[in-house]
Amino acid sequence: MVKTVVLAAGRGTRLKSKTTKVLHRVFDKPILSWVLESLADIPDEEIIVVCGHKAAEVESFLHAYPVTTVIQEEQLGTGHALMCAREQLADYEGTVMVVNGDSPLIQPETLSKLLEYHQNNIMDFSFLTCNLEHPHGYGRIIRKNKQVIAIKEDKDCSEAERAITEVNAGVYCFEWSTVAAGLDALKSDNSQEEYYLTDLVAWAYSQGQAIGTVPLDNPYEVLGVNTREDLALVWKLKNEATLHELMKNGVTIVDPSTTMISSEADIGYDTVIMPGTYIQRKVVIGNNCIIGPNTTIYGPSEIGNGSTILQSHISSSCIGENSQIGPFSHIKDGSDLGNSVRVGSFVEVKNSTMADRCAAAHLSYIGDAKLKMGVNIGAGTVIANYDHRTGEKHQCIIKANASTGANSVLVSPIEIGEGSNIAAGSVVTKNVPDNTLAIARPRQEHKPNKSLRAAPQN
Ligand code: UD1
Ligand code: CA
Repeated sequence: MVKTVVLAAGRGTRLKSKTTKVLHRVFDKPILSWVLESLADIPDEEIIVVCGHKAAEVESFLHAYPVTTVIQEEQLGTGHALMCAREQLADYEGTVMVVNGDSPLIQPETLSKLLEYHQNNIMDFSFLTCNLEHPHGYGRIIRKNKQVIAIKEDKDCSEAERAITEVNAGVYCFEWSTVAAGLDALKSDNSQEEYYLTDLVAWAYSQGQAIGTVPLDNPYEVLGVNTREDLALVWKLKNEATLHELMKNGVTIVDPSTTMISSEADIGYDTVIMPGTYIQRKVVIGNNCIIGPNTTIYGPSEIGNGSTILQSHISSSCIGENSQIGPFSHIKDGSDLGNSVRVGSFVEVKNSTMADRCAAAHLSYIGDAKLKMGVNIGAGTVIANYDHRTGEKHQCIIKANASTGANSVLVSPIEIGEGSNIAAGSVVTKNVPDNTLAIARPRQEHKPNKSLRAAPQN
């Protein structure tokens, strides 16, 4: 039996933020989500999350997860946080796994390894350790003849202890029936005046309990987010891991140092990601695409095989195969573009569909519109979809193979017939039948010898 306690009550003072630490985001989700996901393989019968600072916000975020929450009213240290879960663990007799809620890089395999070690070796107290070149800030592992006898917090270490490079990763397993009593023995007579969970190790040693450690293979997993620098490092490391996987699967990443891709993205082989590309949330990209340079794609979005997205911004939209977007296009709010579509510079497409072979090559706004196959949008066409009096957004339908001339305005709701053309500079307010040329602009008149400019004076 296992019950897990996640410590998530701390304020995160060193982040200097109004948002509580565990709700700071790394890519698509808060730190706390990453930690909860790392527990996926632990056969726990209950996950208890200790909330404290901004507890209401953390609890409301946790509604989506099958966890129990307990409140630590005052944040008096990690040991005190565990005391707050005591009532929830009353009469429990199995293994308790405690995980710091601020370590988003810990891997499920690592947690399984610790639990297996703990249970197979019938330990009372086991925890993860790691050797760090720069151990500053972490609790140091104090050993006597190789046996762990205590964890000493950085701020309480002597100079000699501070030189120890083996640190505590903040993940523990212990037998609740033997270790819980140690909580009564915790004192806050240390430099931070906190009840340290880590002091349970010295207590367990004093009781002659079996204490063991499991070393981390990858030192990055230990990283706890305490500062904005740590947060940036976590982003960087998560990103590097994702880019590494993508490259392994046949995606070219031209410049990993300027590319940031969420692990939720799915990218096909022989696609080239150019420098300055930023892909967030669930984005599915096919094979043989060219994405970037300087392109942002927010999911949920899809890009079909062979498409090019150059210097553009796409959010929550689908692009078909062999389409060309950009430079400087903005496609958003559930737009759905077909195959061999071309959208060019300074064109915004919002909540619209563009069927196969449509083109809008320059300087246009396409909002709340349905463009059927082969429609051509002339430079500077604007679909006036917004009714200022009612606040409504109206629909525009442009049927197959129709085209709009340069600088035309289509005032929605409106329908343009199949194969019809709108003359340049028209403001079209009425539906246009099929195969019709619509001209809606003043006729040009010529008045010879009637120049309005005064004749030059000699
Ligand atoms: C802690 C460990 C340290 C270890 C490091 C690994 C202690 C005393 N020290 O230090 O040995 O090397 O983690 O990352 O445990 N929290 C509460 N209530 C509190 C205080 C903290 O729930 O009153 C939570 C925090 O939200 C955080 C976690 O406990 O998720 C760790 O607390 P933090 O203050 O970051 O501990 P560290 O100083 O990093
Ligand atoms: Ca920490």
